[in-house]
Amino acid sequence: MKKTLSLVGVIACACTISCSQRPASNTETKGATVEKRSFGQTPDGQAVEVYTLANSKGMRAEILTYGATVRSIEAPDRNGKMADVTLGFDTLDGYLNKDEPYFGAVVGRYGNRIAKAKFILDGKEYKLAANNGPNSLHGGAKGFDKRVWTVKDSGPDHVTLSYLSKDGEEGYPGNLETTVKYTVTNDNELRIEYSATTDKPTVLNVTNHSYFNLSGEDTILNHELALNSSKFTPVDETLIPTGELKSVTGTSFDFHNPTAIGARINNDDEQLKRGKGYDHNFVVDGAGMRGVGEVHDPKTGRLMQVYSDQPGVQFYTGNFLDGTLKGKGGKAYGFRSGLCLETQHFPDSPNQPNFPSTVLRPGEKFASTTVFKFSTR
Ligand code: GAL
Repeated sequence: MKKTLSLVGVIACACTISCSQRPASNTETKGATVEKRSFGQTPDGQAVEVYTLANSKGMRAEILTYGATVRSIEAPDRNGKMADVTLGFDTLDGYLNKDEPYFGAVVGRYGNRIAKAKFILDGKEYKLAANNGPNSLHGGAKGFDKRVWTVKDSGPDHVTLSYLSKDGEEGYPGNLETTVKYTVTNDNELRIEYSATTDKPTVLNVTNHSYFNLSGEDTILNHELALNSSKFTPVDETLIPTGELKSVTGTSFDFHNPTAIGARINNDDEQLKRGKGYDHNFVVDGAGMRGVGEVHDPKTGRLMQVYSDQPGVQFYTGNFLDGTLKGKGGKAYGFRSGLCLETQHFPDSPNQPNFPSTVLRPGEKFASTTVFKFSTR
């Protein structure tokens, strides 16, 4: 992989209710007040904490040490009213549920799918958990989203978490140390900075799996999306890229002009049928840190702009949500009630030589940044 392999970002989805209960223990760090509190314990007894980050404008985000998860983001509407714009749970139990769909978590070591749960690196085959039909999804049976991360540093507006994934964990080679720093800036951004190093060649694709809903309503179909993307990667029946980079021109995948997500989602299109809606990697035009796209809710005026240095973004419209999961405030999260924009490398890159490389080697440092910026229009 290149010297500085960029990664992914996270953040996500839909909104609802508020972040409500926020009791807390305050900790003094370098003179500034850091708000953190207990968020319970995993079944094997590991303590989980939640950190509340805030800026001077009243924007807040809550980060869990479990999964390095974004539990909430409060952003203003056009009248200045704050509301949580992400899907998630009030308590740890929700996140421990085996059917939990990665709400707000950092997914890794490899976000999205690896075909047939295996890949070859430097001539050696590595076998992974097939946890999604024949494929491996989001790091396998117990990926980064299900691990308790260690807090390395924190302040009123930021927290830095790290996780050491051991050599052989989930079938991947190399001791991989991954760090994620979340910052709430005074420009109303949630900034996510990833870095990673390894002691053996490995593959890496980390992203944030937040589900966003800017309106608090039961659907995101009225949200308007614009994407800085001229091509996407069509998928087979198991959602593995075919290898083609297909032009969006003339298709339901052209979001150069802001378009309601629901406008074409039910079109007679084989790709939309395979994804049960949008569940596709878009190739982001340009390189380096750049605009990926934006989501606008006409009702509240909320606007979320996404920036990243990653080559792709998975646009997922919550097609596997079916109302059985009860989230914050007991709200049932139904079909397409949240959307994800997962900044990332392309799915199945370890098996697709024509895709940008996701290989990280000893001596290299992977570094990547994704920003979710909130305003109104
Ligand atoms: C997305 C993926 C979807 C689905 C979802 C989790 O990243 O593209 O296919 O697996 O995660 O439910």
